[in-house]
Amino acid sequence: DINMGCPVKKVCNAWCGSALLQHEDLVEKILDAVVRAVDVPVTLKFRTGWNRENKTALRIARIAAQAGIQMLTLHGRTRADGYSGQAEYKTIAAVKAAVTIPVVANGDITTPEKARLVLQQTGADAVMIGRAAQGRPWICREIDHFLRTGEHLPAPRVAEVRQLMDEHLQAHYAFYGEFLGVRTARKHIGWYVRELEGGEAFRQQMNLLESTAAQLRAVDSFFESQLSFGERLQYRPAVEKEVALAA
Ligand SMILES: Cc1cc2nc3c(=O)[nH]c(=O)nc-3n(C[C@H](O)[C@H](O)[C@H](O)COP(=O)(O)O)c2cc1C
Repeated sequence: DINMGCPVKKVCNAWCGSALLQHEDLVEKILDAVVRAVDVPVTLKFRTGWNRENKTALRIARIAAQAGIQMLTLHGRTRADGYSGQAEYKTIAAVKAAVTIPVVANGDITTPEKARLVLQQTGADAVMIGRAAQGRPWICREIDHFLRTGEHLPAPRVAEVRQLMDEHLQAHYAFYGEFLGVRTARKHIGWYVRELEGGEAFRQQMNLLESTAAQLRAVDSFFESQLSFGERLQYRPAVEKEVALAA
């Protein structure tokens, strides 16, 4: 998967990521070269353009399809938008209508209802979820279930999430090691607990812990304590409201 979507300054300054969206001839050369060089399917992730005055997505999509790219994922923002404002889906719809390869719609999809709406508005073949999956990786099955049945899955069982957190943290520590692991795991744990009863107080205490063993124990007992509210996760109503508003 080739990334022509990253808006980060140091990436764009090196003519990588979304900076390429300003240079269609270079995009064509890169895509041609990569497709020819490898024997796995090559896909492209990109934004709608460099800025709103220069939305190149449609031309880039045609170039990509011509080069033999096998799937496109389009984030409905320009590079200049960064992550501000709302993603727009008209450009994604136009790209979907212009090519025959699968198109994945991306940007601000936070609920099953929003996923359905974006699929309807764009005609896209699939949706990609980014930030909404942070601390809620089961959102993908929630969306899948809703699209298939029109009904919402119940919240996940506390026991399942407790186990999942344990596995996530173990893998995280194995990758980052003790010192970095405990520090970089904090934001992930914060995402998992932010919608839960006592989550904010727990996050603040947990941030003070300096070892992976203490962090792992604290997270495990936090989830154990959630069992006193029920067998399944209880999202706080205020957060449910925010999520609905975001949709
Ligand atoms: C912290 C962070 C890191 C990201 N890293 C990548 C990346 O490495 N490759 C990529 O194609 N997109 C990356 N993205 C962009 C996301 O894939 C996605 O396009 C964007 O977040 C919009 O989707 P969302 O509203 O569902 O989050 C990143 C986004 C964030 C917030």
